[in-house]
Amino acid sequence: MDFNLTEEQALLQQNLRAFAARELAPGAIERDETKEWPAEIMRQLGEMGLMGIMVPQEWGGAGMDAVAYAIAMEEIARADAAISVAMGVNNSLVCMLLHNFGTEAQKEKYLKPLAAGEKLGAFSLSEPQAGSDASNLRCRAVRDGDGYRVTGTKNWVSSGLHSDYVILMAVTDPEAGNHGISCLIVEKGWDGLTVGKPEDKLGIRASDTTELYFDNMRVPAENLVGNEGDGFKIALTSLDSGRIGIAAQALGIAEAALRASIAYARERKQFGQPIASFQAVQFKLADMATEIEAARLLTWRAAATKDAGGNYATQAAMAKLFASDSAMRATTQCVQIHGGYGYMRETGVERLMRDAKITQIYEGTSEVQRMVIARSLLQ
Ligand code: CAA
Repeated sequence: MDFNLTEEQALLQQNLRAFAARELAPGAIERDETKEWPAEIMRQLGEMGLMGIMVPQEWGGAGMDAVAYAIAMEEIARADAAISVAMGVNNSLVCMLLHNFGTEAQKEKYLKPLAAGEKLGAFSLSEPQAGSDASNLRCRAVRDGDGYRVTGTKNWVSSGLHSDYVILMAVTDPEAGNHGISCLIVEKGWDGLTVGKPEDKLGIRASDTTELYFDNMRVPAENLVGNEGDGFKIALTSLDSGRIGIAAQALGIAEAALRASIAYARERKQFGQPIASFQAVQFKLADMATEIEAARLLTWRAAATKDAGGNYATQAAMAKLFASDSAMRATTQCVQIHGGYGYMRETGVERLMRDAKITQIYEGTSEVQRMVIARSLLQ
């Protein structure tokens, strides 16, 4: 068993940590405040190969592995989790979905610019009545000659506003349950697609989240991914890999909380000494560091299993469950260590706590991860 990163992975980690501290961290508090979309940063991420990390180079990607993807997500999220959301969705739920299930023509037309960061993708599964119960969809895609007509409402779509293409799950056969769901590639700007106003969120505020409304929108048949009825399996398979990315995002947020806590505990004096000299604070730091290390091992193991071609769905669920809970605990303790200053927005650590919360919710809630883990134990 080898716990060391390869030379390439270690270099990636080192370079991205420096890049994120220099380019992303300084504006993170302001972007959280203004909800400003980081267009220039997204362009830079594309140039650096971070929008299609696991996509082979022949399809415009960086041709790296899932461990490299986890490392990159952690380092970007450590500086600004909002930026890592758009990056994570584009990588796992859009690019890898197209790479694994798309036709050559779909890869040529959509995957190449998405993986190169020239275009941005969104993934649209959830609906008002279908969150955790993801197969309970109502958005309909009705066959119409050599295409489909789509009508329905989708919600909580990350990058719904700024994306160019959307991977859409819609019902083609209402009688067939989860086997009646199909996956379609949709281009923004098509007649019949309206984007809702950006949601006002607790955290990851610089990333946009919107509803999408479809009114008889036409999708050509060549934009069907896989076969009719394959959509639910395509979505869940892609979410398995997405969950490694969210676990890594949670790790980045938790690591930022730990580093801020250590720095503040050394500097802040109370009762005539740095608060780092108090065992109550030391124990908090020790617990945070231990949980982060455990979460990182789970995340990297799930990624390494994926790279080795193994079945990683349960490992990814465990990694996301534990990393997101650890991030919530670490960021809450970070605010506690900062005391009154931590509660103020200008310190920036309350943002970590708000950002951490979503990692327990999207790409499958903590309860859904427990369902996935329990089913694998009992099947
Ligand atoms: N991979 C492939 N297939 C899978 C699968 C997986 N991981 N898990 C289940 N399936 C298959 C099953 O084998 C089954 O196939 P058959 O019908 O052929 O037997 C089918 O899918 C249905 O399985 P279940 O009966 O287990 O399905 P379920 O309705 O009980 O749901 C669930 C299972 C785990 C709760 C699932 O619905 C789920 O993961 N829900 C959460 C959805 C989610 O993560 N949403 C996130 C939204 S996207 C987002 O957040 C992105 C963003 O913008 C950031």
